[in-house]
Amino acid sequence: RIEGSLRPQSLDEYIGQEKAKNNLKIYIEAAKSRGEALDHVLFYGPPGLGKTTLAGIIANEMGTHLKVTSGPAIEKPGEMAAILNNLQEGDVLFVDEIHRLNRQVEEVLYPAMEDYAIDIMIGKGASARSIRLDLPQFTLVGATTRAGLLTAPLRDRFGVVHHLEYYTIEELSTIIRRSAEVLGVEIDAKGAVELARRSRGTPRLANRLLKRVRDFAQVKYDGRITEDVAVFALDLLEVDKYGLDQSDRRILRTIIEKFAGGPVGLDTLAAALGEDAGTLEDVYEPYLLKNGFLNRTARGRVATQTAYEHLGIAFPE
Ligand code: ADE
Repeated sequence: RIEGSLRPQSLDEYIGQEKAKNNLKIYIEAAKSRGEALDHVLFYGPPGLGKTTLAGIIANEMGTHLKVTSGPAIEKPGEMAAILNNLQEGDVLFVDEIHRLNRQVEEVLYPAMEDYAIDIMIGKGASARSIRLDLPQFTLVGATTRAGLLTAPLRDRFGVVHHLEYYTIEELSTIIRRSAEVLGVEIDAKGAVELARRSRGTPRLANRLLKRVRDFAQVKYDGRITEDVAVFALDLLEVDKYGLDQSDRRILRTIIEKFAGGPVGLDTLAAALGEDAGTLEDVYEPYLLKNGFLNRTARGRVATQTAYEHLGIAFPE
């Protein structure tokens, strides 16, 4: 089997995101029985939690095709019009990083989403006029790290909006055991839990780490992934026992060492790290917040006592 096949193909195979999954099941069944395309769906949340996978599953379950693109990849309105015009009845168009579409491209989507039509300008100056071109019914699946990054007119045109959550250790270890089976590598329950614990709540990372740990198991051990093998390999990969990697630890260390533990404003912190403030806020912070390493206050970000203890730095009384 090829790489991509670690992705589940149906909602029944998909583990976690119970709320999104159960709702989608209903909407898909209803749309199918009406013989209509599924309403447009927006997924938001940190990267690696299965937005692309769910778009693929929606297309599979609807019995249609998936077409994948992204906000930054479409530069001109004509490119968006061409993509839409090439869709077949019921197809799913997945637009990753949809908040990065430019304004003119985004405006092509409004009538497309609302009326399955695009307005094309022909001619110039006084003789210019617009003609309306009908599209097949289709489902736009948009993905973004934060719903608030979308303009209101775009956000309002999605009939279904779901926030994707970090996965629990139990869900991740089930995913890891399933992936191990697909990859043909043996893993025991404790090995799977250790990998899950260190996967930052993220299946994409869990699957990546599984492949690296498998390499260590093959070369340094007898091929079987146990707790010991997982600990050995993940320590070498500098993924710690809470799933924090070097970037996560650098963020906490910077708040503690350069800003006396905070509070420090997002932009100041981003500048000190040489990171983009949006990336810091949408990609790194959610996991640190959720796991009690970081607090957001009115005056800025604060490293918690847990963060100090985790990094082995004395917490100031
Ligand atoms: N592989 C990656 N994400 C998955 C998920 N949510 N369920 C099952 N397998 C997966």
